[in-house]
Amino acid sequence: MNNKIALVTGANKGIGFQIAQQLGDRGYTVLIGSRDLARGEAAVKELVAGGIEAAAIQLDVTEESSVRAAAAQIGERHGRLDVLVNNAAIIADGDTAVSEIDADVLRRGYETNVIGLISVTQAMLPLLRKAERARIVNLSTELSSLTAVGNPAHRASTVKMAGYNSSKIAVNMITVMLANELRGTGILVNAADPGRCATEMGGLDTPRTPAEGAAVAVRLATLGENGHTGELHSEAGRLPW
Ligand SMILES: NC(=O)c1ccc[n+]([C@@H]2O[C@H](COP(=O)([O-])OP(=O)(O)OC[C@H]3O[C@@H](n4cnc5c(N)ncnc54)[C@H](OP(=O)(O)O)[C@@H]3O)[C@@H](O)[C@H]2O)c1
Repeated sequence: MNNKIALVTGANKGIGFQIAQQLGDRGYTVLIGSRDLARGEAAVKELVAGGIEAAAIQLDVTEESSVRAAAAQIGERHGRLDVLVNNAAIIADGDTAVSEIDADVLRRGYETNVIGLISVTQAMLPLLRKAERARIVNLSTELSSLTAVGNPAHRASTVKMAGYNSSKIAVNMITVMLANELRGTGILVNAADPGRCATEMGGLDTPRTPAEGAAVAVRLATLGENGHTGELHSEAGRLPW
C-alpha cells in the first residue's frame, strides 16, 4: 500500500520540522511546506538522510497563488492528502498589549495565523476528502485559552501579545467550526498546544525541545477511526478553551 501523505506548513524548521520528522518516522510521505523553497529543500535533505520519504513544496500561506499551486501539485503527484498540519505562524514584530498594538502589526499576524490557515485548509479540503480518513491539526497555544489567560495567577495572563493570542483563539474557533462541518465525513479536526519550546518563536531560554512539542500534533494527526474532533490538546491531554 502507498504511504500516507502528510503536508506540514512552515516545516523547514522548528516544531513543524519535528512534526514532519516524526510523521516520516511513522512511514508517512511528508511534504515540507516552506515559503522559501531552498530552505524546504535543505530540510528535505536532512529527512531523506534519515531514511524518510520527503519532498519540499513552495508554500507561503499568505499568497493565494502559492497556496493554489501547492494544492495543484499535491493533486497531480498524489491525488489525495491524508494529513494537513497547519503549523506556520508568526508573532508579528511589534506585537504588544491591546492598549498599544498597531493595526498593521495586528493585520500581519492575522494574515498568516488566521487567513493563511483558512486559505490553506480550503485549498487542501478536496484532497483531504479523497483520503480514507484524513486528519487536520491546527497548531494553537495555551496563550489562546480564556481559562488560562483569565486566571491572574497563571503565567499566560502576563503575556502581552494581543495579536498572537487573539489570532490563536480564532484558530481554536476555526478548529471547532470545521470539526462540526466535517462531522460524519471521517475527517477529524483538532488543535494542538505544543507547550513553550526552544525555537525561533519560543526563544532558546526554555528546556523543552521542539521534538517534545511536536509529539502532541503527531498524536492528533494519527488518531484512529473513533478519535475525537473539535478539541484542543497538549501532551497532558484535553485543555479547556
Ligand atoms: N515555540 C513555541 O514555544 C510555541 C508554543 C506554542 C505554540 N507554538 C506554535 O507552534 C507552531 C510552530 O512554531 P515554532 O516555534 O516552530 O515557530 P518558528 O520556529 O518561528 O517556525 C515557524 C515556521 O512557520 C513558517 N512561516 C512563517 N510565516 C509563513 C508564511 N507566511 N508561509 C509559510 N510559512 C511561514 C516559518 O518559515 P520561515 O523559516 O521562512 O520563517 C517557519 O518555518 C506555530 O503555530 C506556533 O504558534 C509554538
